[in-house]
Amino acid sequence: MNMNRPTTYSTGARHFHWWTFAFVAVQFVLGFGMLVRANWLNIWDVLTNTMYSTHKLLGMIILVLVIARLVYRLRRGAPDHEPSLEPWHKVVSHLTHWAIYGLLILVPVAGWFGVQLYPALDVFGLFSLPAVVAPNKDTSRWVLWLHSYAAFVLAGLLVMHVGAALFHHFIRKDGVLARMVPWLTPRDRP
Ligand code: HEM
Ligand code: HEM
Repeated sequence: MNMNRPTTYSTGARHFHWWTFAFVAVQFVLGFGMLVRANWLNIWDVLTNTMYSTHKLLGMIILVLVIARLVYRLRRGAPDHEPSLEPWHKVVSHLTHWAIYGLLILVPVAGWFGVQLYPALDVFGLFSLPAVVAPNKDTSRWVLWLHSYAAFVLAGLLVMHVGAALFHHFIRKDGVLARMVPWLTPRDRP
């Protein structure tokens, strides 16, 4: 390990991580709530419409946040791995993190293109999301299908990711969670 490199994520990286977590958690609650109310129970009231508008708006905010996060990540890099990790741990952790980043782009982009093609761009009856493609209902069906299934894969990876973080902290008792949680370790980067 290079002793000059920090062992925790920078303050900026931690902010990006925990804001993404907060927004994506709300987004999943809205997405699954919409699925139950609209697709399963066929309830199309003010609450369902508000959930759709909030989901579309928050999804676009997440897309911008994740693009900014990726630019920051590619420019600033990440701290060296926790020293006790085995080589296969490092490979699995890299693969999972980059798969999560990929899906954090694919899922909202597919959602955005799905509502352009449908078209269902209206948000709260106040404004429309930007559109770059013309409506096409048939194509919208499979783009929204891709959105939904990619969201389920993302949910599965995030369950694994959170499980791994808790496993490292409570069972393996190493410093992995401390890399992302400021109050578990002194900050060593501005
Ligand atoms: C990271 C961001 C996002 C996540 C995690 C997410 C997640 C979800 C989930 C879990 C569902 C329910 C799945 C289902 O209906 O089978 C859903 C549905 C939906 N999402 Fe998203 N979403 C995101 C971003 C977006 C964006 C940016 C838009 C549009 C601007 C959008 C539009 C929709 C629409 C229209 C549906 C209903 C699809 C249907 O009923 O076929 N989502 N989303
Ligand atoms: C929506 C939920 C979440 C998303 C999208 C997410 C995403 C990510 C991503 C992409 C990374 C890689 C950071 C990088 O190297 O650039 C990461 C790292 C990390 N996350 Fe999460 N995360 C989520 C929730 C959580 C939760 C709830 C925990 C704790 C229980 C957690 C703990 C960690 C830790 C400890 C790392 C650093 C791993 C290491 O490299 O040592 N994450 N997360």
